[in-house]
Amino acid sequence: MGKLQLQKKQTQDFGPILESIERFYREASKLKAEHIPVSLNIIDVDKIPDVELYLKEKVTPGGNVLALEPRFKVFRKKGLYLSQAELKALHQNGVDEVYLLRSDMPAFTAYIDRLLSEQPSHSPMADEKKVTLLRNSAMKVMTDIFETPSKENIERGVKVVSNFVYTLMRDPKAYEILLSLSSHDHYTLQHSVGVATNAIILAKKMGIEDEVSLIEVGVGGLLHDIGKTKVKKEIINKKGPLDEEEWGEMRQHALLGYEMIKDNPNIGTRAKLAILQHHEEPGGTGYPIGLSGNQIDIFAQIVCLADIYNALTTDRSYSSARSPYDAFQLIKSKLSHKIDPKLFEALVKIYGHQKT
Ligand SMILES: [Fe+2]
Ligand SMILES: [Fe+2]
Repeated sequence: MGKLQLQKKQTQDFGPILESIERFYREASKLKAEHIPVSLNIIDVDKIPDVELYLKEKVTPGGNVLALEPRFKVFRKKGLYLSQAELKALHQNGVDEVYLLRSDMPAFTAYIDRLLSEQPSHSPMADEKKVTLLRNSAMKVMTDIFETPSKENIERGVKVVSNFVYTLMRDPKAYEILLSLSSHDHYTLQHSVGVATNAIILAKKMGIEDEVSLIEVGVGGLLHDIGKTKVKKEIINKKGPLDEEEWGEMRQHALLGYEMIKDNPNIGTRAKLAILQHHEEPGGTGYPIGLSGNQIDIFAQIVCLADIYNALTTDRSYSSARSPYDAFQLIKSKLSHKIDPKLFEALVKIYGHQKT
């Protein structure tokens, strides 16, 4: 078989896998379900983590019609080997999915992240899907990080950002798709993923090319507001404007975030600085320290602008999304004291051509 044919085959094979992964995330977002369906085609017997798998019990005709709740029986016990033949037998019996427990989601999503990073790098048909999926898995990781900012979850965040960066480096088209995805989001956890994306793109425009640095700035963007998990929920979710005291608490998030990750060996020093300094301002008017000019790490300045831009161009509870042009105007007239002019120029170069 020629090389071209082989590539084509890979592309065709990966499409249904992407679809199954997408479906998996969709199903997993139904929080009530304890058993989450997984299509057989995303089960790689050699790589799947050691999780228990279930089958849905068939309701036989004439069986108990009152049993409305679906029932599950164990198909693969933890610690036991799963063979290709077993999967094949299921398939032949007309079963095309198994179920896993919600409590095994962390292990399983890590496995899916790995599947995604191993995808064929040249599969144009799947480009858009691929990027959407990357973003979905980033969102899932962010949800987990905000719920439980554990070392393991943060490590998954770092991996997801690495996948972003690798995709961006490999695939010029992914750049455009990511650009369009970073706006138009509702303002919740998506903000973090949007900021990570903007920060990577902005850093690249500023001439930062090496993957390690791009991952670092992306991780800084993803985790910039992680300290908000330590701020009172009433303040975070307050609909109206915050009073003086509440602002004081809100401002703590930069330092609190830094303290949460400062000893984490998976996070680079400059990503840590970005988390600590993303509200510092060149004129020395920012917080938590009041650094000025080049005392503020360039990664922190990038994350700062990525943060502002994402917030302005995203629908929030108290304001609707601005167009890139309106956001530029506002930054120029009201927020220029927060931003280095060279960075602002790069931002306009990137997003100035976007229509919406
Ligand atoms: Fe912040
Ligand atoms: Fe933010």
